[in-house]
Amino acid sequence: MTPDTTPRSKDEAALLDIAGRRLPGGVLGTTRYRDELAFVVKRASGARLWDWSGREYVDHLLGSGPMFLGHAHPAVVRAVTEQLEDGTTYFLVNEPVIRLADEMCRAVPCAEQVRFTSTGSEATFFALRAARAFRQRDKIMKFEGGYHGSHDYALMSSTPKSPKAFPAPMPDSAGIPHVLEGEVLIAPYNDLPTVEALLAVHADSLAAVIVEPFQRVIAPRDGFLEGVRRLTQRYGIPLIFDEVVTGFRFAYGGAQELYGVTPDLATYGKIVGGGFPLAAVAGRADIMQCFDPRLEGVGPFVSQVGTLNGNPVAAAAGLASLAELRKPGVYERVRTIGGALMAGLADLVKKLGVTAQVVGHPTCFDIFFTDTPIVDYRATLTNDVAKLKRFNEACLRRGVLKGATKIYVSCAHTEADVERALAVFETALTD
Ligand SMILES: Cc1ncc(COP(=O)(O)O)c(C=O)c1O
Repeated sequence: MTPDTTPRSKDEAALLDIAGRRLPGGVLGTTRYRDELAFVVKRASGARLWDWSGREYVDHLLGSGPMFLGHAHPAVVRAVTEQLEDGTTYFLVNEPVIRLADEMCRAVPCAEQVRFTSTGSEATFFALRAARAFRQRDKIMKFEGGYHGSHDYALMSSTPKSPKAFPAPMPDSAGIPHVLEGEVLIAPYNDLPTVEALLAVHADSLAAVIVEPFQRVIAPRDGFLEGVRRLTQRYGIPLIFDEVVTGFRFAYGGAQELYGVTPDLATYGKIVGGGFPLAAVAGRADIMQCFDPRLEGVGPFVSQVGTLNGNPVAAAAGLASLAELRKPGVYERVRTIGGALMAGLADLVKKLGVTAQVVGHPTCFDIFFTDTPIVDYRATLTNDVAKLKRFNEACLRRGVLKGATKIYVSCAHTEADVERALAVFETALTD
């Protein structure tokens, strides 16, 4: 049963009616389907999700990334259930979170210490604050099109409609204080000469350079991350990799393991919380020390606190997820399945003669309706977004759920799921 074969049930219509009145836009964030396509999730298991009308979707949204093992993975459910019996939050150091910090330091090349937050946005926000405290400077450099969450610094030139000359930022949201436009410098992703020129002028005022090592679905050009690392090292500027998406997804040690470049700090979220609200800053001990409360009054102490930080249920879910990911062959298998879906979609584009390309990594990619090579944010502006929207909606109607600009693949997806999704992609492209 999919939306194109099964009408919305009375129960689901009633829920959507309440949502429309009680939630702004009837939604939880910036993504909103047309009213006819809106649905309410009832449950999810593995790579499948069902709505209140009993319609089934192959899930390539995966909770926007955390559900890399698939929904309701038995090992995660077991670990969480056990922890629930012992209490759900303490605001104190606990065993699951200590073990999670320890495991993260084993997995992640740059990680000597870890500080937990509840969301990826908080993780990037506090990584930047720690870098400012450590380096005793205020400004930060980020890359055009890079997304680091929804705080005021992060929402600069993440999706600028008409980008300005570098390094001037464009706020992506109303309500961001104008004064912050002077605090954020924007650089072009994958353009090392321009980064070098900008740093030559601005290095002394910078507290940090933050980058998604794999920006949205755009891979770094050969030498780009190495170059940014070399330059930041030359000027003594802390380099932050935002690994909220790539962490434990591209490899157990994340993008830093895959690309062989080690930053000073890295931020984590999504997979590390096993589908629960948990995220983290990890990195060099001398920078992470800024979070140590013993520094208050005697050094560059960074105040960072959150009621649910280090939540034991989330930590238990994260630990159980990481244990599954350490099993032999897991990454090879998900890359094979995702690679088959990615290659299959690229073949369809070719076969049907559509002006489009498939861009990204086997676990995280999307289709762009343009023939301009997608190497940076400005190239993505050539994407025919109306076509992409139609494609996304056609997929949804036929029971394939994807993100607005991403197709995630999980360890729970099977060859049969790939076949089903490809059949849907083919009709969606033909439409
Ligand atoms: C690279 C990156 N950084 C940070 C965030 C923010 O994480 P959260 O949504 O948990 O605040 C996201 C969210 O998608 C992300 O993709």
